[in-house]
Amino acid sequence: MATADGTWAYQDRFGDEFGRTYFRRFGDGVVSSLGLGTYLGEPTDAVDERYEEAITTALESGCNVLDTAINYRHQRSERVVGRALEGSEIDRDAVLVATKGGFLPFDGERPVDPGAFVREEYVDPGIVAREELARGSHCIAPDFIEDQLDRSLENLGIGTVDLYYVHNPETQLEARSREAVYDQLEETFARLEERVAAGDLRYYGVATWDAFRVRSEHENFLSLPEIASRARSAAKAAGNTATHLRAIQLPFNVHMADGFTVAAHEGAEGAESALWFAQKAGLNAFASASLGQGRLASGLPEAVAERLEGESAVQKAINFARSAPGVTSALVGASDREHVREDLDACRFDPMGADAFDSVFE
Ligand SMILES: NC(=O)c1ccc[n+]([C@@H]2O[C@H](COP(=O)([O-])OP(=O)(O)OC[C@H]3O[C@@H](n4cnc5c(N)ncnc54)[C@H](OP(=O)(O)O)[C@@H]3O)[C@@H](O)[C@H]2O)c1
Repeated sequence: MATADGTWAYQDRFGDEFGRTYFRRFGDGVVSSLGLGTYLGEPTDAVDERYEEAITTALESGCNVLDTAINYRHQRSERVVGRALEGSEIDRDAVLVATKGGFLPFDGERPVDPGAFVREEYVDPGIVAREELARGSHCIAPDFIEDQLDRSLENLGIGTVDLYYVHNPETQLEARSREAVYDQLEETFARLEERVAAGDLRYYGVATWDAFRVRSEHENFLSLPEIASRARSAAKAAGNTATHLRAIQLPFNVHMADGFTVAAHEGAEGAESALWFAQKAGLNAFASASLGQGRLASGLPEAVAERLEGESAVQKAINFARSAPGVTSALVGASDREHVREDLDACRFDPMGADAFDSVFE
């Protein structure tokens, strides 16, 4: 498990190599404001090998945030994170390992008959009830999420997940009402609170694509204040003194800055953006798709690029995402270790200050 001692020692070792506010608070520890993502890439042995090198390079060069999910590359990404952690000279207690459950994962490769796989692996053994599924492939019911947490611990080869996200819960809005999704989240949070008490995870969060950055009228909207309130109730139900809901994840880049610009979440002083609400509620925000899933490598809008530090479009895009007020860490997917080096080099520059960041939107 990531510990205060382990992560602060990691900062002592690498902090001087980076710009201002490179390491940021997470719980009682510190994490790098660049995190390594593991979503994209073919589910092959060759890509596994590339990822293993990339993850090892990241860990041994100043990045102590690893982001994965059980369904990424049909569980191969989790397994390769586990191998890299095992093989690296960096101690496990220096690294924030985050994973997610929600999408029913295949096992190593896409099966010939996905429907039969889901039936045999999940429905027939009673892990998932058919009516709990959305799109035939997504579930956030408590029994399923607990099953997925167990499988993730096994894949990652670790005793405790530092941050466990419920993955894209807005997918459930295709199958049930918003109120029913909140109810299901509350039940699942209560289980996660119990698993915190059992030592299987440290904190949990909610990872989203649309839910937190769209307007409240949007069909995929979920309210962050409502989710935070459900997490408090779940903690009480589980007998914990405080909630362990600690983080949100949402896409954030030059072309998807709605987490900063769209005020959709009712706070004490009216509607607030997801990032602003999260910051005030003590939730760490992790930015996904910081490079627009690779597309920003070919350039940023000039008016934004000229305000950012960095030697390439990629570096400027990374510095945009990690400059947003409230963002703890900008996640960048990279299976190429040279990309990891270039991405980390971005962080030798300082991020923009809050006023400079605001002025981009004026
Ligand atoms: N809803 C969710 O929960 C959600 C959704 C999306 C993403 N995420 C998380 O966020 C992470 C980041 O998002 P993402 O991977 O989708 O997109 P991204 O980070 O915006 O882009 C990843 C792509 O950028 C390329 N890249 C990285 N560094 C580069 C460099 N220096 N030069 C050129 N290309 C470079 C990578 O190529 P190589 O692989 O060849 O290095 C990869 O194709 C994911 O990996 C995942 O962990 C979560």
